[in-house]
Amino acid sequence: EETGKSGYDHYMLKEIHEQPRALRQCLQGRVDELGGEVLLDELGALDPDTVQFVACGTSYHAALYGAQLFRSIGIPAQAFIASEYATSVPPIENDLVIGVTQSGETADTLSALREARHRGAKTLAVTNVVGSTAARECDEALYIRAGPEIGVAATKTFASQLITLSLLTLHLNGSEDDRDVIAGLRDLPSNVQAILDDTNAREIAEEYHDSDAYFFIGRGLHHPVALEGALKFKEISYEHAEGFPAGELKHGPLALVTENTPVFAVVTGDGEQARKTIGNVKEVEARDAPVIAVTDGASDVERYADHVLEIPESTPRTAALLANVQLQLVSYHAAALLDRPIDKPRNLAKSVTVE
Ligand code: AGP
Repeated sequence: EETGKSGYDHYMLKEIHEQPRALRQCLQGRVDELGGEVLLDELGALDPDTVQFVACGTSYHAALYGAQLFRSIGIPAQAFIASEYATSVPPIENDLVIGVTQSGETADTLSALREARHRGAKTLAVTNVVGSTAARECDEALYIRAGPEIGVAATKTFASQLITLSLLTLHLNGSEDDRDVIAGLRDLPSNVQAILDDTNAREIAEEYHDSDAYFFIGRGLHHPVALEGALKFKEISYEHAEGFPAGELKHGPLALVTENTPVFAVVTGDGEQARKTIGNVKEVEARDAPVIAVTDGASDVERYADHVLEIPESTPRTAALLANVQLQLVSYHAAALLDRPIDKPRNLAKSVTVE
């Protein structure tokens, strides 16, 4: 079952549908059901003063998410595009450099990790491939356990990276207050399944797949989701797509917004971030852009949207992952309608082994 397409037209669609199972595998044995504790036995003692992430592409988006989670538990953290790591402030003794890499073979990420080690930092590989170069060369390895991914576009491995980074911060935080968050992680596989069983992503793709360009916006943990939504869209549909932190739209990209540029806005909860993103949604609505809200229904964003991609109610960190599933499906269906070679997009390779 892992190797064939199991009746799906493409590996990408199969892998999108494998996410509930991948997430269960990732959680298995790592969450103590009774104590509400996260146990990552494979890791040695980690107590970093600061954290630097290095990664590329989709894995960089996971790193942005991971850095926010670390900051939320009081550990200063920053994500770097691996090929730009040379410009970072050098880590010092008790700093941890985390390489997020599905394959564990991406040359830019390996090179940044080697540089980090050379500068004296401890290194950790968060990877899917057991025995990969990153796993072998780093001081520690944490596996995302997604199973093999064949499609060039990363899907289930992104979901598994997010949940693994979430587990890592919960493990380091070890707080009683995290019980709700841990419960949210346990609900995640069935919430992803609920989306897969009842999504209108194909209808959205049908309506908009011949637009001029596609924009994706989100704040906080939804910022990496906006970036990932756009990367996935351009990678497999060959259409122009860009992701922005919602607040940045008015500092330039808004000039590109027209009635022929759909804007996907990720808005969950009803707090300050949702309120501000709804303000940005109103700005694009006023320029007649079609708005597709990816939302859990907690706010009134629907009032300003042409369409809604619904996700189940959940915690902020799991909402990001759920919203991403809807965006993966829109990209997939748009690319299928445009008859693109989805599993092997032109000019791209699954693993990029040159710098
Ligand atoms: C994802 O859809 C891309 N194919 C690409 O951005 C990928 O995530 C990147 O090349 C990093 O790969 P890695 O996770 O194997 O290091």
